[in-house]
Amino acid sequence: MSDTTKPSDVVRTERLGRVLVVTVDHPPVNALSAAVRAGLIAAIDAAEADAGTAAVLIVGAGRSFIAGADIREFGKTPLPPSLPEVCRRIEDCAKPVVAALHGPALGGGLEIALAAHYRLALPGAKLGLPEVQIGLIPGSGGTQRTPRLIGVAAAIELMLSGRHIGPDEALRLGLIDRIGAAGDARAQGLAYAEELLAAGAPVRRSRDAQGLADRDAQRAALEAARAETARKSRGLFSPLKIVEAVEAALDRPFDEGMRLERELFLQCIDSPQRQGLIHAFFAEREVAKVPEARAAQPRPVASAGVVGGGTMGAGIAVAMLDAGLPVTMVERDEASLARGRANVEKVYDGLVAKGRMTPDAKAAVMARFTGATSYEAFGAVDLVVEAVFEDMAVKKAVFAELDRVCKPGAVLATNTSYLDIDEIAASVSRPGDVLGLHFFSPANIMKLLEIVVPACVSADVVATGFALAKTLRKVPVRAGVCDGFIGNRVLAVYRQAADHLMEDGASPYQIDEALREFGFAMGPFQVSDLAGGDIGWATRKRRAATRDPRARYVQIADRLCERGWFGQKTGRGWYLYPEGSRAGRPDPEVLAIVEAERARAGVTPRSFTNEEIVRRYMAAMINEGANVVHQRIALRPLDVDVVFLSGYGFPRHRGGPMKYADMTGLPQLLADIREFAKEDPLFWQPSPLLVDLVERGADFASLNQSA
Ligand code: NAI
Repeated sequence: MSDTTKPSDVVRTERLGRVLVVTVDHPPVNALSAAVRAGLIAAIDAAEADAGTAAVLIVGAGRSFIAGADIREFGKTPLPPSLPEVCRRIEDCAKPVVAALHGPALGGGLEIALAAHYRLALPGAKLGLPEVQIGLIPGSGGTQRTPRLIGVAAAIELMLSGRHIGPDEALRLGLIDRIGAAGDARAQGLAYAEELLAAGAPVRRSRDAQGLADRDAQRAALEAARAETARKSRGLFSPLKIVEAVEAALDRPFDEGMRLERELFLQCIDSPQRQGLIHAFFAEREVAKVPEARAAQPRPVASAGVVGGGTMGAGIAVAMLDAGLPVTMVERDEASLARGRANVEKVYDGLVAKGRMTPDAKAAVMARFTGATSYEAFGAVDLVVEAVFEDMAVKKAVFAELDRVCKPGAVLATNTSYLDIDEIAASVSRPGDVLGLHFFSPANIMKLLEIVVPACVSADVVATGFALAKTLRKVPVRAGVCDGFIGNRVLAVYRQAADHLMEDGASPYQIDEALREFGFAMGPFQVSDLAGGDIGWATRKRRAATRDPRARYVQIADRLCERGWFGQKTGRGWYLYPEGSRAGRPDPEVLAIVEAERARAGVTPRSFTNEEIVRRYMAAMINEGANVVHQRIALRPLDVDVVFLSGYGFPRHRGGPMKYADMTGLPQLLADIREFAKEDPLFWQPSPLLVDLVERGADFASLNQSA
């Protein structure tokens, strides 16, 4: 454990000529544990005390400079010395300090580098201040030194995006002084330090840098950033704190700015948003820990096939091409294949038009794409994803072909949204190779990939799904077979809650507004307009036969669909989209239909506050999430959280529905559900898991360890 490590174990010093080389060696990523922090201070003290040392070089051992804070310290009170103290000690050093960066130099790692006097970065180095992603601000001088080095606009952009930049951009911005050659950071750092000494280069502190000298321009940049952040950050806490800290860099002496940075940092630490964001951060790493991935090695996937070139097939092909795989697409005839290929090319043409891809790069990607109308083209591929019409007979026919042509050991995956994958698997001679890979639209953009595990699948096929997700840079979540798996199954329930609210008296526009206030980018009716109302309509028709006749069924959406109002693509849905506009306008005719339907259903409308709307909507989502865990469709509550965070626009700072439930309290949630059940006991049946947790005084988090 880091707490018991001695500083000298993790920070080595060695004098080479006049340069004291300080090597941070704390595998795997040189995180800034208490021992590393103490070791750095001791190293600077030693450098100053040693008359033979004229300069200091800080480097990282292994594959990174310093990847950031020590995540094992998250949520605990850190031991001294603090990171701001370490940075100050480095900056105060009376002898020039050089940092040579390779690999990740992120968060606190970059703040250490910014406290050094000269910076060199090797190709492949990744520099960034990603604290905003876990609800924080850089807390060790990052907000004060960065703008002094690179100006307000670039500093704020770096900190608000949390993105990583490479050495070229870092040099252009002025964050580093020099780019090294590929190779050894230590050797190049040493050469740079020697060169600086030979030139008589002085100690040069970032806190004295002149990046803010042009005050009027900097002030204007700050005001522009503040306005944009207020508009874009949708209730997030830490982005505006970053702007505030940078304002202090502009207006106040360095020490005062540092004090304010600390104050704002502590406010962020205390914010519930940080709890949610940290949960999201860890949950996204935990989801890949599933029994099959532990039990088996993935099969190699060096080439892939896609059946169908529609919305999903083309998107999946792009995701695979983007990951460097060769892709073969099979469509049912030449005309459909031409459309499928065009759907793929359209994505790259868009990038070329925006200047984000060169025509040559597009040609190179498309050279890895092959189209065919015969399944024989799949003879050599390692994995196929089927994305044809959502129809069991069509899917089975496709799988019969795959069974016939694919080589032994090829993974046969379906992208079905709802169909029974056990039934598909049972229809082929190799059910152990059949898996669900449920992508989300647009498949080349959306991060979520549900890995649906039928009863007979072999463990190594599931492990292959997880490995593929990594190749495609998706967030994989293991799901069991049921109607809708995790995401769409839970969605179906809270969508009904939204429909009930609408029929009971809330307008679709108020419901959308309430959920935007909660933090969703869009409300459910806006989402429906974007996805196309016909999709939900088809699902409702399919389910009509099996629907409990006693269940409440709101027909308002059907009335819109019967008029052909499917949303953006038809110019109107719940909202009006005049002349192809994407921002919808409330539609009085929709409100009239809603009223007529209320009358038809004999409902006397009442009013709801936005808070009441959120309460019902979330209760429906969490209760069904609990059912999904209870029935082992999801392994753990955190899997449900990740599905909603990465596939359904759930606000990240709330951590996902199950984390949100824990934070607001399960007893209150259960009481709400029992209250709602007085009106509609069939819809509002408390999940047995929720009841059990409340009886035991436990929470969803207590189930997150038990995968
Ligand atoms: P789509 O209608 O856009 O595309 C289907 C394509 O499959 C068409 O190009 C059609 O020509 C082709 N096709 C049909 N039968 C074929 C056959 N026997 N052989 C080869 N190609 C054939 O449909 P979409 O939206 O791409 O959906 C495909 C699948 O993905 C469905 O199972 C759907 O439930 C699922 N899905 C859809 C999502 C969405 O948002 N659209 C999201 C996630 C899954």
